[in-house]
Amino acid sequence: MEGMNFGHLNRDGIRIHDPAHFAGMHRAGQLAAEILDSIRTHVVPGVPTIELDRIIHKQVVAAGATSATVGYKGYKHASCISANHVVCHGIPSEKRLRDGDIVNIDVTVVLDGWYGDTSRMYVAGKLPRKAERLINITHEALMRGISAVKPGNTFGDIGHAIQSYAEAQRTSVVRDFCGHGLGRVFHAAPNVLHYGRPGSGPTLEPGMFFTIEPMINLGRPETKVLADDWTAVTKDKSLSAQFEHSVGVTEDGCEVFTLSPKGWFHTLDGVAAGG
Ligand code: MF3
Ligand code: CO
Ligand code: CO
Repeated sequence: MEGMNFGHLNRDGIRIHDPAHFAGMHRAGQLAAEILDSIRTHVVPGVPTIELDRIIHKQVVAAGATSATVGYKGYKHASCISANHVVCHGIPSEKRLRDGDIVNIDVTVVLDGWYGDTSRMYVAGKLPRKAERLINITHEALMRGISAVKPGNTFGDIGHAIQSYAEAQRTSVVRDFCGHGLGRVFHAAPNVLHYGRPGSGPTLEPGMFFTIEPMINLGRPETKVLADDWTAVTKDKSLSAQFEHSVGVTEDGCEVFTLSPKGWFHTLDGVAAGG
């Protein structure tokens, strides 16, 4: 609603939302997470990724929400689907998934004006050993980043938690894409870097809403964007993985808005061992 007050900007230009605004973010985040839960059974060898996007878009609309990505800078789809060496912004297409492909599916919904942005890794068929290792490292990197979210810490502390862990595992952190503030807009200040020095960057304050979405590569960190102007791939064609949550800083830590209602955030959550 025009004229309504959605908090204020702090001295770093980062919006500080009111405690009452967490509820709207929770609802939007939960819708995005619910959609990622329900797409899981559809991620199988032979499915064209455009089919997954159609299912996702239908669910967004059925929930009375809109897709933040349809029409965003000319993007036409309700999801980004990034397979194997695609780092992010993979465009859903008629191309079919094959056994052993790993894919990130990234969904952003707008519900009652609030944005919920989350992504996870999935596997079509059997998860290859190397891919499983990368996925585990990327998931743990995000969780370590989230653990650093509390008032008084800085954005550099988040980046450092992610980078120090990923590099200790001999993987690399993508520098060309970052997380972002969100709320009643898709991409706001600050840029949330997935690397950094402890104590650097703006200080975290209760009421900040942002994403953390590390992209981790088995090879080198460099990326390039394909001729379609969206698809980002690793330059060395090495495997890449990503997980994304939307969070809000509270008095003593953070609320993760995009937790999986089914407890299925990690690729193999709820899947029988070896299945
Ligand atoms: N959801 C992505 C993010 O995490 C942005 C996708 S923009 C698109 O910020 F246009 F590529 F869909
Ligand atoms: Co995001
Ligand atoms: Co996203």
